[in-house]
Amino acid sequence: MNGWRRAAIAMSTICALANPSAFAAQAGAQQASDPAQTARIKALEQRIAELEKRTQPELGNQMLILELRHDRLWWAGEAGNWNLAYYMAGEIGEAIQGIVETNGDAAELQPQKLSEIMPAMLNVPLKNLMAAIGTHDKAKFAQAYDDLSAACTGCHRVAGNPMLIIGRPKTPMLDDLQYAPAAQGK
Ligand code: HEC
Repeated sequence: MNGWRRAAIAMSTICALANPSAFAAQAGAQQASDPAQTARIKALEQRIAELEKRTQPELGNQMLILELRHDRLWWAGEAGNWNLAYYMAGEIGEAIQGIVETNGDAAELQPQKLSEIMPAMLNVPLKNLMAAIGTHDKAKFAQAYDDLSAACTGCHRVAGNPMLIIGRPKTPMLDDLQYAPAAQGK
């Protein structure tokens, strides 16, 4: 250590010893701003949580959309409209993805995680259903459709809602969509 630096350190030590109250005041000011900042951060965090809650879709409403697509899928398959059936199965896949992304920690499924349970229960039956649609075989489609419905019901059981039993629809939920394939060339 050179002489100048040694001298500078000695000087600052002397200053600190000579005026300890100045040091304490400086430290105090820093401490006072910290609780204010902590409170502000806390308030912002609370606000973000509130906004997240407000924009989070309700799981029951998301399920209604899923149910509508599930219904439409059946009628498309029944009509042998394989393009429409394929489209609806794709929409179901997207709806599942959307639910996983926005409601992955849904309280209804706790302590299990919806983000894990939902794909684990639906991905395989949905994949099989897509494959069945590809065969243009109504019997295979119906079997794969029933397997998907059973998976829906299975999760409702796990979630403590065993009264939500999903099956084949008897009448279309909405009938403004044409299920019969469009005539070729028209
Ligand atoms: C990961 C578990 C899970 C899977 C898989 C699942 N559901 Fe649900 N479903 C729920 C839960 C939980 C509720 C209750 C939601 C609530 O209380 O708001 C529900 C509610 C429903 C409802 C009632 C909606 C209402 O409020 O009127 C319908 C209809 C429904 N599901 C259809 C389906 C269909 C169709 C499928 C399959 C394509 C499916 N669900 C797959 C967990 C699941």
